[in-house]
Formats: sequence, structure tokens, C-alpha cells
Amino acid sequence: SQIQDVNSDKVKRAKNMAFAFDIDGVLVHGDRLIPEGKKVLDMLNGDNQLGIKIPHIFLTNGSGKPESARTEQLSKILGNPVNVEQFIQSHTPMRALAEYYKTVLVVGGEGYRCREVAEEYGFKDIIVPNDIVAWDESIAPYRVFTEEERASSRPRDFSKINIEAIMVFSDSRDYATDMQIIMDLLRSENGRLGTVAKDPVSQRIPIYFSQGDFLCPTEHPIPRMSQGSFRIALEAMYKALTGVDLERVVYGKPELATYKYADEVMASWMDALHGEERVPENIYMIGDNPASDIVGGNMYGWNTCLVRTGVFQGGENDEENPANFGVFANVWEAVTTACRKQL
Ligand code: G3P
Ligand code: MG
Repeated sequence: SQIQDVNSDKVKRAKNMAFAFDIDGVLVHGDRLIPEGKKVLDMLNGDNQLGIKIPHIFLTNGSGKPESARTEQLSKILGNPVNVEQFIQSHTPMRALAEYYKTVLVVGGEGYRCREVAEEYGFKDIIVPNDIVAWDESIAPYRVFTEEERASSRPRDFSKINIEAIMVFSDSRDYATDMQIIMDLLRSENGRLGTVAKDPVSQRIPIYFSQGDFLCPTEHPIPRMSQGSFRIALEAMYKALTGVDLERVVYGKPELATYKYADEVMASWMDALHGEERVPENIYMIGDNPASDIVGGNMYGWNTCLVRTGVFQGGENDEENPANFGVFANVWEAVTTACRKQL
């Protein structure tokens, strides 16, 4: 019975801890598994001495697909179930914006798949850059527009429509076209293409970005440019053309709103797993990017673990945003160290 007591204490402590996983550079590289990622999830999903599930959510700046499609794909890669209810992509909290804007330009994603994401979020009138190119090809002078793209576009007379807001949901697949159209809209009178506002501020429509990472680890050996790089280029162009700063809203890690949203998801996932709707006391964020995962987690009072399998390639710890729980070779080392401390 002593063993039982020790175990029930451990179970109690296990229910008071949780993990928030970054995905790219921690569990996978693009679509390639990082083997320790599967090992960690096997363990947290019950393959451990206590035989219990330890709650974890996925908090990724990744984007571009509906949550259901991405979790299905990740479940296969990771060999473990990834439920939409424990899953936050950079644009997931932007669902709330559907209440405020009807006609929106949605940018990013393969084959403009973000149209589908925006539909799921409840946006009523969704326009993607290809719809605009199909209406007036001269808007993007260097674009080669294929028949296939034309067939999947939905052109209308955009000189008669006011676009109310711009939502950059994911990485642009064509910087030249997307930047040109975004800049046209930001400089227009209330989102009407073909116009140029006299006052660049009062008639400007708002622009939202789903995340701010400059770099993203991929299959390529050196991290690739991401949405943050696209945004600073737009900001610089806008400033040069109009003389004023571009106001914008950025979601994703390390923005506070994203961590608050993560808390809500964590509490309801705790409810699903343990029948207790609350946020556990000890949360561990495992990330590879000091400038997003780690700085955000530190500000939010989480324990932060930096791994060496992604963006971070530095020395003992990151100099600007050091992880407060430590730096680890990989996700397995981080999670098992946290479990040893807590249990
Ligand atoms: O930077 C873009 C994105 O792919 C990063 O994803 O999972 O590392 O937050 P993640
Ligand atoms: Mg990452």
C-alpha cells in the first residue's frame, strides 16, 4: 500500500503538469518526423510507469490548412493521436475576427488553401489574390497565370467592392503578386481597388498577420524566411511609399493573446482528459525558437525548454531570450527532465 500511496501522489502531481509543444523544429521538420517526438508522445499518452495520460497541447506558429487536415496529417507522422481540441495553429484564434468583417482578402497557403480555413472560421465573403488577378491580370505584371489557376479563381468586378480587412493567414506563395495587391489595398480608399486614398491613414483598412516568425526550420539546412520577413518587407515598402507607419496586428507566439487562448484550450483539454476544467500549475513549453516559443513562454510564467533540433543553433543558452528551465539536445531530454522534476 506504500507503493500505492507513492503512486497516487505521483498521479496527483502528474495531473498538475502539462506540456505545450511547438511543432516545427521540435517534433517534426516539415513532414519529416524527429524520432524523439514520437517517443515523447507515446510516453505522455500512457506508455509510462503510472500508466496515465499527461496533458499536452500543440501550440504552433504553423498555418495554411484547416485544423482538421493538419491534425490528421500530424497524427500519421507522429504515430499518435493529435486532436483538434488540443491543437492551436497561428491563425486558430483569428476565428473570432469573422464576427467583425464580412468581405476579406485572405493571403497565403498552398493553392490558396487558406480560403478553406477562412470558410471554416465563418468568414462570409472571402477573396484570395488569384480572384483579383483573374479579374485584372495587369494588376500583377510579372505573374504567369496558368489555366488551372484561372479555373479555380472567382473573379468579380472588384472596382465595385470594398474589402474590409486583410488577413495574412500563412506564408505567401508569390511575394510579388501578394505584396502588390496588399499594397494596393492598404493605399486605397476603404479597400476599393483602383482608388488611391488622399489620406493614407483615415481610409486605410486593417491588416492582420497570423504570426511574426522571421525564420522557419524546414527540410533545408538553413532556416527559411517566414511570415515575419514578409511583413517587415511590406512595412518598409508602405513607409517608403506613404511616409507613415503601417499599423498592424500580429497573432501567434510570442503574442500575449495566443498564450491566453492556449490557457483556455489547456483547461478544456484537462477537462476532456481528467474531468477537471482548470489550467495545471506547472506548464512546460518546449520550443526551438527563442524569439517566439521561449520569450512568449517566459513572459507568460511557463517553464521554458529550448531544444537544439530547430532554429536555435547557439551555445549554452540563448543570450537574448534564455530558456528558464534549460537547453536540451531534443524534446525527449526536455520532457523526461521535466517529469523527473515534477513527479
Ligand atoms: O515559422 C512558421 C512555422 O512553421 C513555425 O511553426 O511549430 O515551430 O511554431 P512552429
Ligand atoms: Mg518551432
